[in-house]
Amino acid sequence: FIPPSAGGASGGVTAKDALGNDILVSEYTKSHPAGDRSLAQGLKGDPTYVVVTNDGIESYGINAVCTHLGCVVPWNANENKFMCPCHGSQYDSTGKVVRGPAPLSLALVHASVENDKISFTPWTETDFRTGDDPWWA
Ligand code: FES
Repeated sequence: FIPPSAGGASGGVTAKDALGNDILVSEYTKSHPAGDRSLAQGLKGDPTYVVVTNDGIESYGINAVCTHLGCVVPWNANENKFMCPCHGSQYDSTGKVVRGPAPLSLALVHASVENDKISFTPWTETDFRTGDDPWWA
């Protein structure tokens, strides 16, 4: 038995912080409370939000690249939305687009915890927010 690992055949990566270090969930959740959405380095180096839940990490990460013209979209906790500073697009807390000009929701990745590290893998299934095939896959 060979456990899945970062960079394996699954096409996954280990989520890294801004310094390039692997995020350790046990440490991370001490400083990032439930509901927190903060950026990590994800697949292909894309900035990707890690979503903290009451008991760990949400099973999906949210690609922060705006589907309009590619700005990195900040999370606005007060508004409970992702709000793009470039042209005003808005996305709900799952990354579903709720205001244009962005034409599409933010891309998803799978997020799982293995050995206290977060593994991001490609999301190729139905987009649970829209019921559509994933536009990014
Ligand atoms: Fe985000 Fe234009 S790049 S609204």
